[in-house]
Amino acid sequence: MTSPNPSGESQTLGGVRAEVRATPEYPFTPVHAPIKLDQNESALDFPRSLRELAARRMLTRDWNRYPDLHAETLRAKIGEYEDWDAAGVVVTPGSNVIIKLLTELGGIGQRVLTVQPNFSVYELEGQMLGAKLTRVPLRADFGLDVPAMRRELAAGGPGVLFLTQPHAPTGHLDDERDVRAVVEAAGDDWIVVIDEAYHQYSGSDYRSHVLERGNRLSLRTFSKAWGLAGLRLGYALAHPALAANLQKLVSAFNVSVLTQTVAEVALEHPEYVRQRADEVIWERGRVLAALGGMQRLHALPSRANFFLVRTPDAGDAYTFLLERGLLVRRQDKQPGLEGCLRVSIGSREQNDALVEALLELDGE
Ligand SMILES: Cc1ncc(COP(=O)(O)O)c(C=O)c1O
Repeated sequence: MTSPNPSGESQTLGGVRAEVRATPEYPFTPVHAPIKLDQNESALDFPRSLRELAARRMLTRDWNRYPDLHAETLRAKIGEYEDWDAAGVVVTPGSNVIIKLLTELGGIGQRVLTVQPNFSVYELEGQMLGAKLTRVPLRADFGLDVPAMRRELAAGGPGVLFLTQPHAPTGHLDDERDVRAVVEAAGDDWIVVIDEAYHQYSGSDYRSHVLERGNRLSLRTFSKAWGLAGLRLGYALAHPALAANLQKLVSAFNVSVLTQTVAEVALEHPEYVRQRADEVIWERGRVLAALGGMQRLHALPSRANFFLVRTPDAGDAYTFLLERGLLVRRQDKQPGLEGCLRVSIGSREQNDALVEALLELDGE
């Protein structure tokens, strides 16, 4: 087998758009460790009884046929669950895909406005797709800087505004009045996205704001509270006219029969989601209280299923935890998050191991 010639490779990339070449890869390196607290997943898998039900239902489906063109049955079930017009529901393999499609819808050659620090996908897609990207720094307490956001919106669209409630990776939940002030400052030439990937852990819900105006949209996912990150399914709730335009960008048959079947089973038995989210909220309180007296390290408050720990040296702290079998995520390269690690809430035992390790590190 001939191996590619590295210098030849760079000479042959002229067909790749400069924006893509200049964009860094998605910042994630898979690392294996006994206690995985690095991706804000649910510590618990989809309930066993529902897994069995989904597996049995899969046996009745046609695997040789394409699934519904635009997952009509699944969208109707999501609509029922969310009390939302099914024509305003758009589904894709993970909400990451919707972020890309929204950037295609309103960002290419136009503006993408978001905050900093933030979930990296908004800016990666914005950069790759050639949007004019603006990141407004959050306040020191991670709240939205409303006057600065207003100024940017007033400078004019068209474009896409990405807000995250509760925010990732800080876990901060803004005052609803601040979110309203920003959202209302966006004129009709902005698409306003409220990414609610973690809303089950914060008790917030921006559906009523989305209903008020046709340029707004809520993003949700099965990857967190539903315990189905492996399934890859996310959705948008929007006005039907906005959803219809977004839908044009969704590839045909983009949600597999397996994903549709499992999600339908989940939506028919959603009770476990609230119960588990409540358990995570309780554990989050317990862990943050246990870490409250730290001297050198600081665990920051959160309304999501993760929280930040500010350390004197994120690299050292990451290695210290990994040596004890705990995998967390470094966030210290993001402006405003110097020294920070992001840690998911795990099972009770995992959280105990985390608390013990952090207290030991704090005392060193
Ligand atoms: C704020 C935010 N939005 C969206 C996503 C993507 O979720 P999905 O798994 O549905 O692609 C994540 C995942 O970590 C996230 O943190």
